[in-house]
Amino acid sequence: MRENTIVKVTKDSKVLDVLRFCPTTVKVFYTFQIYPFRDLSSDLETVALKDDADLESLLKELNGLLASPAVAGEAVGFVPGRKIHQNMSFRLVTTRHPATRDVFDRYKVLKLAEEYWPDEKMSFFAMGLNLSPDKLVTELNKAVKAEEASQLKTSVSSQPEDIHVGFMKMSVIFALTTGCLYGAGILFYFGMHGTLYGVPRAILEAHGHTQVYGWVGLFIMGISYFALPRFWGTSLYNVFMARMSLVPMTIGIVLVFLSRHLLLIGDYIPFRAMSIVGSLIEVAAICLFLYIMTNTYRSNSTRKFEVYEAYFFAGYGWFLIQALMFVGTMTYMAYNGLNTVPPLIEQPMLHMQIMGFACMVILGILTKTLPVFLGIKEPKKDVNLYVFLLLNVSILSRVASLFLRDTYPLFETIFLAAGCLEGLAVLLFFYNLRLHRIGEIESGMPRKEFRKFIKASLFWFFLAESALLYFTVNEFYTGAEMSYAMFGAYRHAIFVGFITMMIVGCASKMIPMSLGQQLYSYRALFWTFVLLNTGSVLRVTCQPLAADYEMNSLFLPMGISGFLEYGALFLFGYNVWKTVGQRQVQEGKGTTERITKVTPETNVYQLVTQHPQTLDVLVNRGFKQLKNPVLLNTVARTVNIGTAVTIHTTDLGSLLEELNEAIDKKNSHAQDAP
Ligand code: HEM
Repeated sequence: MRENTIVKVTKDSKVLDVLRFCPTTVKVFYTFQIYPFRDLSSDLETVALKDDADLESLLKELNGLLASPAVAGEAVGFVPGRKIHQNMSFRLVTTRHPATRDVFDRYKVLKLAEEYWPDEKMSFFAMGLNLSPDKLVTELNKAVKAEEASQLKTSVSSQPEDIHVGFMKMSVIFALTTGCLYGAGILFYFGMHGTLYGVPRAILEAHGHTQVYGWVGLFIMGISYFALPRFWGTSLYNVFMARMSLVPMTIGIVLVFLSRHLLLIGDYIPFRAMSIVGSLIEVAAICLFLYIMTNTYRSNSTRKFEVYEAYFFAGYGWFLIQALMFVGTMTYMAYNGLNTVPPLIEQPMLHMQIMGFACMVILGILTKTLPVFLGIKEPKKDVNLYVFLLLNVSILSRVASLFLRDTYPLFETIFLAAGCLEGLAVLLFFYNLRLHRIGEIESGMPRKEFRKFIKASLFWFFLAESALLYFTVNEFYTGAEMSYAMFGAYRHAIFVGFITMMIVGCASKMIPMSLGQQLYSYRALFWTFVLLNTGSVLRVTCQPLAADYEMNSLFLPMGISGFLEYGALFLFGYNVWKTVGQRQVQEGKGTTERITKVTPETNVYQLVTQHPQTLDVLVNRGFKQLKNPVLLNTVARTVNIGTAVTIHTTDLGSLLEELNEAIDKKNSHAQDAP
C-alpha cells in the first residue's frame, strides 16, 4: 500500500493529504470553486463551509475519482527552447528552469510541490491556486525569459575581454609597415622630386589597399567583435571563428600587396593568381565576419532595432561589395595584362571604401557612443535615420554616375545630385549632434584626453565633405574635374584627418577601458594628436598648393608631413602595445577576483558582470545611465562604488548593504536549486 494512502475521503480529511495522495483531485476542488492551496492544512468540512460548497457532493466526487483507475496524468517530455505549457510537470519545469522556482515560492507552494507533487502538471497548480493555466504559464515563461536574459548577461560577461586586441595589434602593424611607412616614403619621394608622379601607380594602390583593409578594416572587425555584442546584450556567435577570421584577412592583404609589387617585375601567371587568390581570401574573411556579426545580432531576439545598427550593417555590406568588385578588377586586369586599376573602376571603388564602408561604420560608432564620450544628449533617432538613408542613396547614385556619366549625360546631373545629397546628409548629421552642447551631460568619465581626437576628426570630416561638395558642384558647372593633387588632399583629409583620428581617439579610450587599465602614456597620446594634425594640415594644404599652384617650396613640407603622421601612429602603436602588455602582466598576477562582498573599492563593471542582479539595485538607486550598455561597458569599467556615489549622490552604507543582500540572496537560491 502506497505511503499516505487514502482509501476513503471524509469530512475530516486534510486538503493537503487528499492532494498529496491524488493530485488530480485538484480538478474536483476546482469545479467546486475551492482553491486548495489556500487552505492546505484545513479539513474538507472547513473549506466546504468557507467556500460555500456542498460537502456531500464534494466528498462523493472525490471518492468517485479515487476509485477510478486512471488517476495520474502523464507529464509531457521537455523540448529545449520550447515554452512552458500547462501539461508540463513541476519537476521538468523547475529542473530545466530553476528561475521558475521563484514563481512557486511566491505562491508559497514550492516546498509542498517538491515534496508531494513533483510530477504534477502546471494545470494542477493553476487550479490549486485559482489561476487560469494561461496566467500561471505566462508567469513561468516570463521567469524563463528573465533567466535567459540574465544568463545572456552572464554569458556576455563571460565573453573574452580581449577579442579585439589581436585585430588592433595587426591593424597597427599594417599601418606602421605597408600602410603609413610606405605612404610616407612615397610622399617623401614626391617631395624630394617636386612632383606627384614617378612612383608606379600599382605601388600607390597597394598602399591604399593595405590601409583600407589592414588599418581600417581590421580595426573595425576588432571593435565590432568586442563592442557590438555588449551593446546588444548578447554574446558573440562564435569566439573561435571570430578570432580565426583575423588569419584569412591578414593572409589576403599580404598576398595582394606582394602580388601588386611582383607584377612590376613581370606579368607572370603565379603573380596574377596570387592577386586573385589574395582578393578572394579577403572576400572569404569579410563573409565570415558578416556571418558571425549577423548571427550575433540575431541571437538576442528580444531587442528592438536601433538606427546605429543600420550604419554598421550597411558599412559591412559596402565593404563586401567593394571587395567583390576588387576580385573582379584583379581578374579583369589579369586578362588584360594591366597593372593598375582602370580609372572607371578606381573612383567608384574608392568612394565605396571611403563613404560606404569606413565613414558609414564610424558614423554608426559615433551615433551610439558620442552621447557617453562627449557628454551630449542622444541625437534624434529619426534624423539619424534620414542621414543614413540620404547617405546610402548618395553613395549608390554617385557610384552609378561615376560608371555611367561618360555614356549617359543624365548621369552628370545624378552625379551632382549625389554630391548634394551627401552634403545634406553630413550637414544633418552635424546638426543632430548639437556639438555646441558638449559636456552637457557628464557621465563621470574620469579621463577625457581622447575627446580632442573626436572633435578634431569631426572638424576634418566637415572640412573634407565641404570640399567634396564644392568640387562636385564646380565640376558640374565648369566641367573641370578635381585635380589629382586636390583629390589626394581630400582623400587624405578623410582617411587620416577623420577616420584615422577617430580610430586613434576611440581606441585610446576603448582599449584601456576594455582591459580595465589606464592608457600607458597620456603624454604619448598628446604627441600623437599634435603630430597627426600637423602632418595632415601640411599634407592637405601643401599638396594642392605645390602641385596645382606651382608653389614648389611647399613640396618639401608636403614630403616630410608623412613622417610626422607616421611618428604619430608609431607613438599610438607603442601606447597600445604597452597598455595591452600591462593587462597581460596583471593577468599573470590573476587580479580579477570574484566579488563575494561589495565594498567602496568594488569596480562597478566587474560587480554588474559577476552579479547581474546588482544592476537593478544600482538602477533603482538612480544610476539609470548604467542601463545604457555603452556606458556600462566603458565608464563603469573605470569607476568603483565609492566614486559612483560621488557622481550620483546616494547613501553609500545602505547601498552596500542592498548590493550585498542581492548577492547573498542569489547565492542562497543557487544553493537551494536541485
Ligand atoms: C601616414 C599617413 C599616410 C601617408 C603618408 C599616405 C601617403 C599617400 C600617398 C603619397 C599617396 C599617393 C598620392 C595621392 O594619391 O595622394 C596615397 C594614396 C592613398 N592613400 Fe595614403 N597615406 C597615408 C595614410 C593613409 C590612410 C590612413 C589611408 C586609408 C585608410 C590611405 C589610403 C590611401 C589611398 C586609398 C590612396 C589612393 C591609392 C590609389 O591611388 O589608389 N592612406 N597615400
